[in-house]
Amino acid sequence: EALISNNAIGQQIVYFDSIDSTNSYAKKEANKLKDGTVILSEEQLLGRGRRGRNWSSPKGTGIWMSLVLKPNIPPTEGVKMTQIAAAAVCKSIRELTGLNALIKWPNDIVINGKKICGILTEMAGELNEVNYIIVGIGINVNTDGFSCELKEKATSLFIEGGKKIDRRELVVNILKNFEALYNIYIKDLNLDETLVIVKNYSAILGKEIKIIQGNLEKKARAIDINNEGLLLVQMDDGSKELISSGEVSIRGE
Ligand code: BTN
Repeated sequence: EALISNNAIGQQIVYFDSIDSTNSYAKKEANKLKDGTVILSEEQLLGRGRRGRNWSSPKGTGIWMSLVLKPNIPPTEGVKMTQIAAAAVCKSIRELTGLNALIKWPNDIVINGKKICGILTEMAGELNEVNYIIVGIGINVNTDGFSCELKEKATSLFIEGGKKIDRRELVVNILKNFEALYNIYIKDLNLDETLVIVKNYSAILGKEIKIIQGNLEKKARAIDINNEGLLLVQMDDGSKELISSGEVSIRGE
């Protein structure tokens, strides 16, 4: 059956000067927020990353935002939202800056091997009720430097391109790209359009990667991203495996 969402992404925007975390706010208030609401903050005091990490979100330098989505889809579909968001952000960065942004499956955007954006998709809702999907997007936009511990791994659009970027313009562009891909997806749960982008701009397809899951570290070659948004890898012994979560890092980098 067709699953329609009539609400445009970003028709309602909730804007904060400062907040703990736009994702936390979205989760807390999900009941009251309309489908498609976008939460933005100039800074986050407790920005959250994946795996309980914190996400540095200094004032006025980045895009810290959460999309509140209430599609009528099974909770298992939620993971695909990360792919849609990654495709939208990557496309927007390329369109507006010309920088060679790549998607490091499942949820990072990198430029020159360093992280520029992270995505944290979370579900909220009661029991088996239709879940709210919160897509948190953090982008280092005009950051001019990072702390020692981040310097090796993180970068910003300003550092890479040497130009300050209009954050508002970038947000608008991302929402436009996200909405286009999301609407195609939601019509018949078809991820094709997103996959074209995700594969085209993949930082890892065809490459030797390390898959780190807990204490386990496996070497493999990334060969495809399937229409569930899962990563297909080939192990050294030739066997293939589908990877659904876990930390993926590129060997040699
Ligand atoms: C990651 O790479 O680990 C994901 C980082 C996600 C950061 C964004 S910033 C907006 C939203 N609010 C949060 O607290 N986190 C996400």
